[in-house]
Amino acid sequence: MMLLLLQIALLLVPEVVHCLNQDELSLPALKFAIETDQTRIHDFWSKSDPTPCHWHGVACTGNQVTDLLLTNKRLTGYIPSELGQLNSLKRLNLSNKNFSMPIPAHLFNVAALTSLDLSNNSLVGPIQDQI
Ligand SMILES: *[C@@H]1O[C@H](CO)[C@@H](O)[C@H](O)[C@H]1NC(C)=O
Ligand SMILES: *[C@@H]1O[C@H](CO)[C@@H](O)[C@H](O)[C@H]1NC(C)=O
Ligand SMILES: *[C@@H]1O[C@H](CO)[C@@H](O)[C@H](O)[C@H]1NC(C)=O
Repeated sequence: MMLLLLQIALLLVPEVVHCLNQDELSLPALKFAIETDQTRIHDFWSKSDPTPCHWHGVACTGNQVTDLLLTNKRLTGYIPSELGQLNSLKRLNLSNKNFSMPIPAHLFNVAALTSLDLSNNSLVGPIQDQI
């Protein structure tokens, strides 16, 4: 009987759990793109969370991510193009890290973006015309 209940419970799980939607999955993409994080602060960013809005460095209006500010230093990795899917993103501050590789062109698709600070990184390549 217990086993049967367990099986039923497992069957029900997918309907109960609200996982991150496509828009919000940009943030786990960023977590994945961070290669070194000595503070390990992004270990707490989890794809199974119902919302990324309480994550460190993330601010929302309603359920939409509007601000992404990584205050911790000494990160290495790259900026993932998935950040360009955050349609309500207004302020993006990834300054004083050590991100390398080109700035993804997708980032400049975000129409809402009014403030972008990528200073003091190891980024290479051209800055897109859209900006
Ligand atoms: C970005 O964050 C740094 C601190 O991490 C701050 O000094 C800087 O002024 C911020 N840039 C903008 C444009 O707000
Ligand atoms: C650049 O960022 C590093 C941390 O990643 C920091 O130690 C350094 O002071 C920063 N340099 C400037 C000019 O802000
Ligand atoms: C920044 O990253 C590059 C490679 O990604 C590495 O060679 C360099 O040592 C890093 N600089 C600092 C200050 O961590």
